Amino acid sequence: MLTFGILALVILGYADALLAERHPSTSCDLSGARLQVPADQTQLIAPTYAPSFIGIGVGTQNYTCNATTSTYALVGAVGEIFDSSCLYGTPAFESAPTLAYDVWSATTGITIQEVIITLGLMPDPAVLGQHYYVPNPVGSGLSPKWDFTSSGVTAGNPNAYVIGVKTGNLPSSNSSDIDELMVKAVEGELASEVFRMETNGGQPPTHCAAGYSNIAIKYTAQYWFF
Ligand SMILES: *[C@@H]1O[C@H](CO)[C@@H](O)[C@H](O)[C@H]1NC(C)=O
Ligand SMILES: *[C@@H]1O[C@H](CO)[C@@H](O)[C@H](O)[C@H]1NC(C)=O
Ligand SMILES: *[C@@H]1O[C@H](CO)[C@@H](O)[C@H](O)[C@H]1NC(C)=O
Repeated sequence: MLTFGILALVILGYADALLAERHPSTSCDLSGARLQVPADQTQLIAPTYAPSFIGIGVGTQNYTCNATTSTYALVGAVGEIFDSSCLYGTPAFESAPTLAYDVWSATTGITIQEVIITLGLMPDPAVLGQHYYVPNPVGSGLSPKWDFTSSGVTAGNPNAYVIGVKTGNLPSSNSSDIDELMVKAVEGELASEVFRMETNGGQPPTHCAAGYSNIAIKYTAQYWFF
């Protein structure tokens, strides 16, 4: 951990310089890309056509303690989504969320951008947009939003966002990892469906007690936008 910390500090110096001279978004053709979902399950149904965007999400899932049930309840998430279209078809495409998680979860004081640059998989990591939660526009509670209005090729388009409702939910085999999800759009023109796949981390501890403060659990995932 200590060695990693020193290494990370060295890398961070370069990362700042790299970020400063970052070029505009790089993206690759996704017309041949197809989402594969696990067999033997009915929660996630892959579209038979190509996605518009594929990204790696790096962020936190935030929870508060429900004193009645002594369990953590989700109060939102914050994440940055990086274009991973140029990794599609390479071995790094599947491993990138796990590699990013290893750096993100093992290091304190590192920014999300520095995680991606440290990996070196994407020499010019382009931000597609941000992920966070907003009040449900068609019901109660909170809904996930993916907001591409201020980044990449969609920057400046006020409709380049999607707010969704969960339509499928596949628990991960590893209980530390948040579920894989299928989400249907209820507002916005960015996509009609979003899939959260290849999840790493993000799950809260199983129990909490009243008075526990809110917690933010680091996670990474692959997001597909159709
Ligand atoms: C805590 O959980 C109970 C049982 O699920 C629920 O009825 C209640 O609304 C929750 N409290 C808060 C503050 O979310
Ligand atoms: C989630 O946690 C992060 C890290 O502590 C924090 O920056 C962010 O404001 C939190 N967002 C919400 C909606 O709780
Ligand atoms: C479970 O997932 C966590 C977070 O992704 C990871 O650190 C851990 O190594 C995984 N455990 C197994 C047995 O794969």
